[in-house]
Amino acid sequence: MQNIALITGINGQDGSYLAEFLLERGYEVHGLLRRHSTVNTSRIDHIIKSDYHKIKFFLHFGDVTDSSNMMRLIAEIRPTEVYNLAAQSHVGISFEVPEYTADATGVSTLKLLEAIRVNGGNCRYYQASTSELFGGLPETAPQSETTPFFPKSPYGVAKLYSYWITVNYRESYNMYACNGILFNHESPRRGENFVTRKITLAIAGIIAGTQEKLSLGNMNAKRDWGFAGDYVAAMWLMLRQSKPDDYVIATNETHTVREFVEAAFAELSIEIRWQGTGVNEKGYDAETGKLLVDVNPEFYRPAEVEYLWGDSTKAEKELGWKRNVDFKGLVKMMVDADLQTVAGMTAEDYKRGRTD
Ligand code: NAP
Ligand code: GDD
Repeated sequence: MQNIALITGINGQDGSYLAEFLLERGYEVHGLLRRHSTVNTSRIDHIIKSDYHKIKFFLHFGDVTDSSNMMRLIAEIRPTEVYNLAAQSHVGISFEVPEYTADATGVSTLKLLEAIRVNGGNCRYYQASTSELFGGLPETAPQSETTPFFPKSPYGVAKLYSYWITVNYRESYNMYACNGILFNHESPRRGENFVTRKITLAIAGIIAGTQEKLSLGNMNAKRDWGFAGDYVAAMWLMLRQSKPDDYVIATNETHTVREFVEAAFAELSIEIRWQGTGVNEKGYDAETGKLLVDVNPEFYRPAEVEYLWGDSTKAEKELGWKRNVDFKGLVKMMVDADLQTVAGMTAEDYKRGRTD
């Protein structure tokens, strides 16, 4: 039987990696795309230009907040697997647009599950749940499937609804529905206003001479950062089990934002010397004394998730999942990619120039 996947959020970071992953495994892949006033398919343009397009890869205009749209697409596509990745996924911005976030990140999950149920309910369903559900209380770390939830943002609360409605449809209607509780995962395709990509883009801009310095918010926050390419494999594995369940996916390692900054500059052999604390904290190039990093309270959030550190033992044991890229490998991948695009050079080119 032909495997047919529907991916919402196909042009997002994860959607693009998942589409590649499934196409390589012979799937017919359908993606939901919102209409924008400008084209925003840069992450999937290579697929659109490939032989897969309109043979094995199909895009459909739609919006997960539109239930009639979801009903029709499920009826027409008849997917065997649905990966619900669409969301207003920025935690900080969810404080600016809380109601929209509740719709797009929360209630839309019900609309999709209901469209699947009404159309027979026999496809497998993946819900993009998140470590934001835990709220990052230090006393709960490391966080696993049994850690209590305490979301700290409109995004986290919306995802809490999505988590439980997925469990509810599994239990009420015997649907094969899973929550992947994924900790932060990044890549060169990460949105520019998430902290890792903001850091690597800023470093590339500083080297290229187009940006003066990097301004950040809370650098004490700790995150368990993995590589998005590794995490989409876990989504697929969750839909391959004899019965549906929920799984934490993480690297089991945690780092502060400050450590990410240090590691990213270190890829260019730039050591950061820190001075001051709180809003007065500044990071200087230890060799030249140039100011490279400062704090702008504009990037603080009304409530902060301070400490995320995942325990993915269950997924490793039951799904056989493991990550391939470690923290250093992830930082290097992102620095290299942005340096090449923004400054047109490699880290080696830069380091050679600095010592010449
Ligand atoms: P992303 O890059 O922000 O992508 C989000 C996708 O959702 C985009 O394709 C976006 O399309 C789409 N979307 C947003 N609102 C929509 C709507 N109303 N209707 C249809 N599509 C809509 O996010 P990501 O990093 O790939 O994450 C994928 C999912 O995993 C999200 O649900 C996120 O909350 C969750 N998650 C992410 C992480 C992580 O660290 N990356 C961790 C845990 C969970 P547009 O381009 O049109 O906006
Ligand atoms: N975005 C951003 N920008 N974050 C900053 C900045 C800044 O200038 N300065 C410090 N931070 C801190 C944030 O306050 C947060 O503690 C941490 O860096 C990570 O922020 P993000 O990269 O925006 O990610 P996130 O952890 O809030 O959310 C991401 O991961 C979740 C999983 O834990 C998103 O991908 C969510 O969709 C996902 O669910």
